[in-house]
Amino acid sequence: MKRERAHVAVVLGIETSCDDTAAAVLRDGVIRSSVVSSQDAIHGSFGGVVPELASREHLRNILPVIAEALGRADVSLREVDAIAVTRGPGLLGSLLVGLSVAKGIALGQGVPLVAVNHLEGHLLSALIERDVRFPFLALLVSGGHTSLYLARSLGEYRCVGRTVDDAVGEAFDKAAKILGLGYPGGRAIDLLARGGDPAAVRFPRARIKQRPYDFSFSGFKTAVRQHVTAGPAAPLADVAASLQEALVDVLVQAALGAAMEYEVPRLVVAGGVSANSRLRDRLTAEGTSQGVEVAFPSPRLCTDNAAMIAYAGWRRIVQDGDDRLDVEAEAQLPLEGPCA
Ligand code: KG4
Ligand code: ZN
Repeated sequence: MKRERAHVAVVLGIETSCDDTAAAVLRDGVIRSSVVSSQDAIHGSFGGVVPELASREHLRNILPVIAEALGRADVSLREVDAIAVTRGPGLLGSLLVGLSVAKGIALGQGVPLVAVNHLEGHLLSALIERDVRFPFLALLVSGGHTSLYLARSLGEYRCVGRTVDDAVGEAFDKAAKILGLGYPGGRAIDLLARGGDPAAVRFPRARIKQRPYDFSFSGFKTAVRQHVTAGPAAPLADVAASLQEALVDVLVQAALGAAMEYEVPRLVVAGGVSANSRLRDRLTAEGTSQGVEVAFPSPRLCTDNAAMIAYAGWRRIVQDGDDRLDVEAEAQLPLEGPCA
C-alpha cells in the first residue's frame, strides 16, 4: 500500500544501472547538484561494459559520489525528504549497489524510498528544465534502447515502436570501433562528422515492412565494415558524417511520422543519443516545419545521470506515494506497454 507524501522538497537521486555512478539533489524539482562518475576509462579497453568491473567500481564510488552531491547542493542527509533510486532495467549487479545503498539511507534516516524505472527517468528528463505538457511522443535513444512511446500522462506510457535488434547507440558505438574511434564512440562520431560530407557515402536506412515505427540496426555495422575494408574508403570525417546521417534519417522519419499518425504535436527526445548535434538540428528544423514542437534535455541530462532519477522519483512520489523497502532490482524492468 503506497503512502502519499504531501510535501517532498529535497530528493536525493541515485543511479547505478550501467557503468556510471551518479547522485543528484533536487529541491522542488530544481537541480541543486548532479554528480556523475564515469567508468568509460575502465571499460574502454574492453570495447564494452564488463558487468563485474562495473559493480565493483560502483561499490568503490557510490558513497563518495553521494557525499559530493550533498556537499555541492549544500544539503545534509538530515534535510533529505526522500530517496529516489533506479531499480531497473540495467545490469543486476550494478543496480543492486545503488538500490542497497538507497534502502540503507532510507531506513537509517527514516525517509521514504521511491524506486524509479531508468527509462522513465530518461523519458521525463526533458521536462526538468522546460515545460512540456502531456500527452507527448517520446523517442528514447540510448546505448541499450531505441523506442518510441506515447506518453499520455505521468506513468501512462504506451510503446508504439522499438528496435528489433541493436539499439541506435550500439550502432554508433560499433561503427566508432570499426573506425578506431574508441568506446563509447557516439560522441566522437558526432564531433568528427561536423567536418564531413553527409552525402559522401550512401549507408543503408533499414526499415521494417509495414512497421514504420520499428527499427533495425544490426546490419549497419556490416555496411560500415564493408565500406572500410572494400577500400578505397572515403575520408574519415565523410564516413562519420554519412553514417550519422543514415542513422539520424531513420530516427527523424519514424519520430515525426508517429507524431503525425498519433496526432500528438509534441516530441520529447531522450537518452544518450539525444545529445547528437545532427539529430537535434534536424528534428528541431523538420519538427518546426511540420508543426511538431521538439524538446531535448540539455546535453548533461542526455546521458545517464541521477538528476533525471531524482526528478522522476519526485513526480512519482508526489502523485503515487513511496515504495516498500523490500522493492527488488529488475534487470528487464519494462516501462509499461508490450514492447518496452
Ligand atoms: O543513455 P546512455 O548514457 O546510457 C544508456 O542507458 O545506454 O547512452 C549512451 C549511448 C552510447 O551509445 C553513446 O555512444 C551514445 O549514447 N552517445 C551519442 C552521443 N553522446 C552519447 N551518440 C551519438 N552522438 C552523441 N553526441
Ligand atoms: Zn540510460
